[in-house]
Amino acid sequence: MKKINLLLVALLGLAAVTAHASIANAEKLIMIYTAQAKNVNADYAGPTVADGKFFFNRKIKLGNGKEMACASCHTANPADSGKNVVTHKSIKPLSPAVNAQRFADFEKVEAKFTEHCIEIIGSDCTAAEKASYITYLLTEKTPTPKK
Ligand code: HEC
Repeated sequence: MKKINLLLVALLGLAAVTAHASIANAEKLIMIYTAQAKNVNADYAGPTVADGKFFFNRKIKLGNGKEMACASCHTANPADSGKNVVTHKSIKPLSPAVNAQRFADFEKVEAKFTEHCIEIIGSDCTAAEKASYITYLLTEKTPTPKK
């Protein structure tokens, strides 16, 4: 498991200089997480947009009784800017097609996943969930038109 990660992280570093690096990196991350998921379950069929969309919008009841989804802060359209429901600070779009800063740093992505997944779901997300989630994000390229 560790070995696969290191190898793919090395590959990831190479893409960082190209123009649409965020998209290329996001695609590499999908490969890493898919490889990890296959490691856990040989029958894993691969990430899907539908799984990622469901995961992103799924509301989970927190310890304090409130319901929260990834979309609560990142909005239902990942191509839009979000807003942190706790601190009310604005969050730049998650979609790598809109925001070139996304998915640039594997360590940061992993740290954020772990942090947010534990915060909301109560445990780290699985590699399969991460793979589908990023697969879904890549399909969201159009910010909601301003009214
Ligand atoms: C309470 C608000 C909140 C919720 C809910 C939330 N996030 Fe975040 N998310 C943030 C903030 C704040 C950042 C960091 C600010 C930034 O990078 O622009 C962030 C950044 C991220 C990043 C970093 C992407 C990158 O490469 O820069 C990922 C991945 C992420 N969130 C995934 C998730 C997932 C998955 C969920 C649902 C399980 C989730 N978030 C729910 C607030 C939230």
